[in-house]
Amino acid sequence: MITTLGELDKGLRRREADRRLAAIGGKYLVMSGKGGVGKTTACVNAALAKACGGARVGILDIDFHGPNVAGALFLGGRVEADDEGRLIPVRARRNLHVLTVQHLLSDPDEAVMWRGPRKMRAIGQFVADAAWPDLDFLFVDSPPGTGDEALTALKAIPGLAAVLITTGHSLSLADAAKAASFLKAAGATLAGVVDSMGALECPRCRETIELYPEGAVAGFAQKAGAPLLARLPWDLEAQRLSEAAGKPVLEAAPESALARGLRELAEKL
Ligand SMILES: Nc1ncnc2c1ncn2[C@@H]1O[C@H](COP(=O)(O)OP(=O)(O)OP(=O)(O)O)[C@@H](O)[C@H]1O
Ligand SMILES: [Mg+2]
Repeated sequence: MITTLGELDKGLRRREADRRLAAIGGKYLVMSGKGGVGKTTACVNAALAKACGGARVGILDIDFHGPNVAGALFLGGRVEADDEGRLIPVRARRNLHVLTVQHLLSDPDEAVMWRGPRKMRAIGQFVADAAWPDLDFLFVDSPPGTGDEALTALKAIPGLAAVLITTGHSLSLADAAKAASFLKAAGATLAGVVDSMGALECPRCRETIELYPEGAVAGFAQKAGAPLLARLPWDLEAQRLSEAAGKPVLEAAPESALARGLRELAEKL
């Protein structure tokens, strides 16, 4: 029973947040078992592709200890609060808004030293107590693994489906298998698997080198009962152009094989 005005206010905000969340057509948790396999790259560029196509898109960064969404978008800025004290996501592009702890830090090199409960509260606040605009898609960039962050996001965002990123290396696949069983135990949908960093085009002879056993990720996806959404090649040139231009791959190297794979991923979501 609601007993105070504060509780009433909280209840109304929660209901408003639920309404906003329910209205989002596509909600994706970009996750992996192993770290460094290309989650943030996939998340940010797929979100950008959707926004370029005219959809209203949000990116929520729940990787508190390695918040890379702002960096991957080359996006500065500070999170401000509105009159009601709600955090205002930073506008990255037309149709693209970002909420990340990185934009709350006064020193960009500061480490976030939060334990589980603090991170869970922060995710709750970022989801339900932030001034998100109306969205068609929400992409959640997570830290690697199956810890507090992923579980809390799945609980806080009804209908959040996972996009599981992995390389074809046996250790990445072994950890991805744990992520798949985590999703099953959490009652969450695995929307699909992304084969990341698997093929490299030699910059000299232009021959494609397969870095891992061919079909390894496709076989994993089949076993997990989920579609293989895209193959993202290891693309040195696209990364170089991205760094040089200070823009994400999709904008800095739109014709690259990596950008093509990222657009294909976005189209499937
Ligand atoms: N397809 C690719 N080709 C070349 N470089 C890539 C590719 N994908 C990602 N990278 C680079 O590899 C590094 C790791 O990528 P990214 O940060 O996207 O991984 P992550 O899974 O989000 O890592 P973490 O687990 O730390 O969050 C980055 O420097 C990124 O620019
Ligand atoms: Mg990341």
